[in-house]
Amino acid sequence: MEKQEKIVSMFDNIAPTYDTANRVMSMGVDKSWRRKACDLAYQFYAKDSLDRIVDVACGTGDMMDFWKKRSEVNGIAVGEVIGVDPSVGMVDVAREKYPEFNYHISKATEIPLEDGSADFLSITYGIRNVVERKEALDEFSRVLKKDGLVIILEFMKNENPSAIAKLMNFYTNKILPKVGGFISKNLEAYEYLPNSIEDFSTVANMVNELENAGFEMVYNKSFSMDISTLLIARKK
Ligand SMILES: C[S@@+](CC[C@H](N)C(=O)[O-])C[C@H]1O[C@@H](n2cnc3c(N)ncnc32)[C@H](O)[C@@H]1O
Repeated sequence: MEKQEKIVSMFDNIAPTYDTANRVMSMGVDKSWRRKACDLAYQFYAKDSLDRIVDVACGTGDMMDFWKKRSEVNGIAVGEVIGVDPSVGMVDVAREKYPEFNYHISKATEIPLEDGSADFLSITYGIRNVVERKEALDEFSRVLKKDGLVIILEFMKNENPSAIAKLMNFYTNKILPKVGGFISKNLEAYEYLPNSIEDFSTVANMVNELENAGFEMVYNKSFSMDISTLLIARKK
């Protein structure tokens, strides 16, 4: 099986236990990062109404729910929220939890939406699973309106990790896989997590790739001992 197909089939496998494992492993901290990502994007865009938000690698759908709830808090009208993900298993869980959203079973490189049709495109803890990243960034640019925002939340390596970040690395490399593996009964899938972070681009590299794909950076910050990085960029 090719690498990308293997990754998707792994998510199909862990889909039923994904939310529980996630809750235990992140201890709920991801919620504040998601909230922050939504609020900042709404602020930077500064419009009262948006036609469309696309959440790529939507998984079990939680980021879509954040987009909706934070739009209400910020007094912004959102036409539709669409989830895109190649894993049928993950999208089945999302559909069950959030039937109010629309979904497409597709990869980040083949988003079945018209050119220039989205105000925001988010990808949260998903970009490191996309094997053809350059093609995906070009696809994000195609789907976004001019001045539309791409919002990326990801576990990324920083160039100069602090001592505390190194300690956290030990936690993600050695402890988390055991916890996720225990909950999902799929140790291999959770050993993939630290490996995929290790193999993934650094923050600086990701910023470069976004700029090469025609985006202009508007925000770049790492949170919680640099575990999670939020990047927001505007399509020029
Ligand atoms: C760690 S989950 C993140 C799910 C969700 N975005 C969240 O924040 O919880 C990663 C997701 O990426 C999806 N994925 C894997 N390869 C992909 C690709 N090439 N294009 C889009 N999504 C992909 C998986 O199916 C999975 O649902």
